[in-house]
Amino acid sequence: MEPCSATSHRGLVPWQGLLLAVSLLTSWTPPTAAQVTIESVPFYAAEGGDVLLLAKNLPENSRVYKWFKGDRSESTKEIAAYVVETSTATHGPAYSNRETIYHNGSLLFKNLTLQDSGVYTLHIIKEDYLSVEAFGQFRVLLVLPKPNITSNNSSPVEGEEPVVLTCEPETQNTTYLWWINGQSLQDSDRLKLSNDSRILTLFSVTRNDTGPYECENRNLVSGSRSDPFTLNIYYGPDDPIILPPETYFPLGTTLNLSCHAASNPAAQYYWLFNGSFLQSTQELHIPDISENNIGYYTCLANNSATGLSRSTVKTVIVAEVVKQPIIEASNTTVEEGGSVVLTCLSNDTGISIQWFFNDQQLQLTESMKVSQSSSILTIDPVKRQDAGEYQCEVSNAVSSSRSHPLRLEVICE
Ligand SMILES: *[C@@H]1O[C@H](CO)[C@@H](O)[C@H](O)[C@H]1NC(C)=O
Ligand SMILES: *[C@@H]1O[C@H](CO)[C@@H](O)[C@H](O)[C@H]1NC(C)=O
Ligand SMILES: *[C@@H]1O[C@H](CO)[C@@H](O)[C@H](O)[C@H]1NC(C)=O
Ligand SMILES: *[C@@H]1O[C@H](CO)[C@@H](O)[C@H](O)[C@H]1NC(C)=O
Ligand SMILES: *[C@@H]1O[C@H](CO)[C@@H](O)[C@H](O)[C@H]1NC(C)=O
Ligand SMILES: *[C@@H]1O[C@H](CO)[C@@H](O)[C@H](O)[C@H]1NC(C)=O
Ligand SMILES: *[C@@H]1O[C@H](CO)[C@@H](O)[C@H](O)[C@H]1NC(C)=O
Ligand SMILES: *[C@@H]1O[C@H](CO)[C@@H](O)[C@H](O)[C@H]1NC(C)=O
Ligand SMILES: *[C@@H]1O[C@H](CO)[C@@H](O)[C@H](O)[C@H]1NC(C)=O
Ligand SMILES: *[C@@H]1O[C@H](CO)[C@@H](O)[C@H](O)[C@H]1NC(C)=O
Ligand SMILES: *[C@@H]1O[C@H](CO)[C@@H](O)[C@H](O)[C@H]1NC(C)=O
Ligand SMILES: *[C@@H]1O[C@H](CO)[C@@H](O)[C@H](O)[C@H]1NC(C)=O
Repeated sequence: MEPCSATSHRGLVPWQGLLLAVSLLTSWTPPTAAQVTIESVPFYAAEGGDVLLLAKNLPENSRVYKWFKGDRSESTKEIAAYVVETSTATHGPAYSNRETIYHNGSLLFKNLTLQDSGVYTLHIIKEDYLSVEAFGQFRVLLVLPKPNITSNNSSPVEGEEPVVLTCEPETQNTTYLWWINGQSLQDSDRLKLSNDSRILTLFSVTRNDTGPYECENRNLVSGSRSDPFTLNIYYGPDDPIILPPETYFPLGTTLNLSCHAASNPAAQYYWLFNGSFLQSTQELHIPDISENNIGYYTCLANNSATGLSRSTVKTVIVAEVVKQPIIEASNTTVEEGGSVVLTCLSNDTGISIQWFFNDQQLQLTESMKVSQSSSILTIDPVKRQDAGEYQCEVSNAVSSSRSHPLRLEVICE
């Protein structure tokens, strides 16, 4: 049954139009009696709110208006009656202290309960004792409480079992919506929503799925969004990174190594030297390093929440800082066409030697030769362009040092 088919369910009648309709009704008699209609304002009402069942096109010769709960004028269901002649209202057995019947036949409900939803019958007895009936209905909906999110696992481990997020509380006829990082939820093969969208299953969470998550509940009269909910996802450790990246460290300095591994909760760090435990710290300081500190340094990162551990090995070589070399010449004054031997003197081992001429790296000419270790430079024959300042530079993995300049004079003729 659809008793109020001609009326709009949700449209609100503007007051001006309503007043106009009232004045038309009192001044204008239709040629054929118009159908009495009931409009519910509003059709969907919130629990605790008000609804007015507006009676329209009432017959002019109405004597009594009677309202009943239900779709029949059953005396046990009578809410209230109004006698036009005496302007008196009476209450029936179904009256609940929240209804008001008006002189114009309309019925107002206050402080609505969910049980008030349904059909109502207006029974009009006219002066000729004939009667007319009209029906109205409305729905009372729950005012939804602010929702919150619960998770069946507040600290899931990355890549492990599914996580189920639920928007609480469950209420009937409610639409649920989700947001992740402020974006409305995008369909993905990594998640699934229940049929009513209230339950969100994340199949495989990663560290990037922390959230925040928000859910919203909505019905036709209310709705609100939950507080943001974040997942504390346990992950890692990933492979640790040891800083600094260098392999060679100068003798006598402090070896400072630090280890970093992405991990939640933060990893525990352990250091090993040549496979033997050194200490459990994130940073390693070894002052005044010597050849004894050459070897393999292992950083082990351990996450007790995930039960995982990862390690990275770094080779450390300790090398002496080279001392300044000394440059010597067989003769600093040579005749053009003669020969000269320049020697780079250094007591350091494991070094490489480079030669400089007038502050530029030396370009070897046809008449120049260097020894295998580059420590001896022979120029034969000497040309006048060979006159100038010579330097040699020794370097190893950790340092380099250049000699004082040596001036070579070339005498012509
Ligand atoms: C009947 O009276 C009530 C209360 O004064 C008013 O709110 C309502 O609009 C009236 N109904 C009609 C159809 O004018
Ligand atoms: C509305 O009704 C509820 C019970 O349905 C009651 O607890 C509350 O006091 C009522 N409020 C008013 C303003 O009458
Ligand atoms: C959460 O629910 C999923 C799906 O039912 C299940 O696989 C997982 O084991 C649950 N997690 C916990 C901690 O109960
Ligand atoms: C979530 O809301 C329900 C009521 O809607 C409440 O009972 C519960 O304690 C709330 N849970 C949290 C974690 O806030
Ligand atoms: C939910 O909707 C159904 C069908 O529309 C209705 O029968 C039921 O009473 C509604 N429940 C509530 C709590 O509004
Ligand atoms: C969800 O909807 C699908 C298709 O409409 C249906 O096959 C399935 O049984 C429903 N599941 C639940 C839990 O209601
Ligand atoms: C997390 O996001 C970052 C940046 O987008 C990406 O590089 C990384 O691979 C993601 N991690 C996982 C486990 O999905
Ligand atoms: C190594 O750490 C010590 C103590 O923290 C500090 O004094 C020293 O400057 C650091 N050395 C380097 C090369 O960072
Ligand atoms: C550590 O291992 C390296 C490489 O095997 C080795 O050369 C070095 O002597 C070792 N150092 C110590 C102190 O055992
Ligand atoms: C990692 O931590 C757990 C818990 O603290 C411990 O049982 C385990 O032995 C540790 N593993 C390593 C390699 O240190
Ligand atoms: C260097 O060469 C010049 C010119 O040939 C010569 O006079 C001088 O004796 C030489 N000096 C030495 C120390 O050989
Ligand atoms: C090499 O060592 C010896 C002996 O200690 C020293 O006399 C000489 O000056 C050193 N040479 C250099 C280039 O340092």
